[in-house]
Amino acid sequence: MDFTLSEEQLMIQQAAKDFAQNELLSGVIERDDAQKFPSELVRKMGELGFMGMMVDEKYGGSGLGTLSYVLAMEELSKIDASASVMVSVNNSLVCWGLETYGTEEQKQKYLTRLASGEIIGAFCLSEPEAGSDATSQKTTAIDKGDHYILNGTKNWITNGNQAEVYLVIAQTDREKGHHGINALIVEKNMEGFDIGPKENKLGIRGSDTHSLMFNDVKVPKKNRIGDDGFGFKFAMKTLAGGRIGIAAQALGIAAGAYELALKYSKERKAFGTEIANHQVIAFKLADMHTKIQAARHLVYQAACDKDAGNDYTLSGAMAKLYASEVAMETAVEAVQIHGGNGYVKDYHVERLMRDAKITQIYEGTSEIQKIVISRSILKD
Ligand code: CAA
Repeated sequence: MDFTLSEEQLMIQQAAKDFAQNELLSGVIERDDAQKFPSELVRKMGELGFMGMMVDEKYGGSGLGTLSYVLAMEELSKIDASASVMVSVNNSLVCWGLETYGTEEQKQKYLTRLASGEIIGAFCLSEPEAGSDATSQKTTAIDKGDHYILNGTKNWITNGNQAEVYLVIAQTDREKGHHGINALIVEKNMEGFDIGPKENKLGIRGSDTHSLMFNDVKVPKKNRIGDDGFGFKFAMKTLAGGRIGIAAQALGIAAGAYELALKYSKERKAFGTEIANHQVIAFKLADMHTKIQAARHLVYQAACDKDAGNDYTLSGAMAKLYASEVAMETAVEAVQIHGGNGYVKDYHVERLMRDAKITQIYEGTSEIQKIVISRSILKD
């Protein structure tokens, strides 16, 4: 196994690092406070090719591999996880889903604009009563011949208000269970589609999270992704890749918190010396560094599996499970190393600690990852 990065991959990593330092860092605290991410920054990320990294160039994407994508995700997430979740959802859930399973007409109409960052997308699976238990969809898409009539509510939708295009999972035929679920492309301006108030969140507060309401929304049949009844498989296959993006986000949060703690521990003095010289702090840093490197290997492995055309459901779930645990643990320790300063916003680590928590929850909680992992290792 060789994780030596190519020149192109190193360049992408550097470009993401530069963007994070030069564009995301200033204002990250204010965006967290105000719960706002400016569309201007989304546009810039689009211009740099971060919004459709793995999409073929003929559809306006950057034509890169998953490894390049996770490198960028890590760098963006070190500074601003609110920005990186927008990148992750647009890339791995929306663009990848459309490019892999969409019709040519859907790709021309939606993917080209999504991949260039001209518009952004949202992935709508979760409901008030269907989070982890994703087959229990209450949202319905009733077949009316050449269109569906969509009714229901979706919850905690990333890019909820900023998006223009929504991939909505809904039940068409309840008797068929999860084989009766469809994935539909819904446009923001469709009649009967309403956006609820913004969620007031613990972390990733700059990201745009809303509930969505569909009241008799007429969705043309040509907006269905894949064959009739493919919606649940579509959601599962798309989420398997999405989890690699969130694993990379978790890795970035961990690495960002560690880098801040390392720097601080070499500057801050206590008991006559820099605190890094106290073994109690040095050992914390040693643990953080070791676990981050282990998480990085799992994330790279999952990305390489996807790029090589191998099954990545297991490696992606393991990467997300472990990297999100490391993110939480590392961010808590980074706050501890910063002491009182860690508890105030200016030092950034308290935000990273709040942001870390969501990586154990969205795109499948840690418990769901354990279901996926255990089923995979027990099936043979
Ligand atoms: N790839 C392809 N198919 C898959 C699959 C995968 N990775 N995982 C499951 N399936 C298929 C199964 O083969 C099965 O199909 P068949 O009956 O035809 O064989 C079907 O899906 C149902 O599978 P299960 O019987 O295993 O279903 P289950 O009810 O036991 O649930 C689960 C499986 C893994 C728990 C699933 O419900 C799950 O992943 N839940 C979590 C949902 C989730 O991640 N939500 C995140 C919301 S999105 C989000 O957070 C985005 C955001 O904005 C940031």
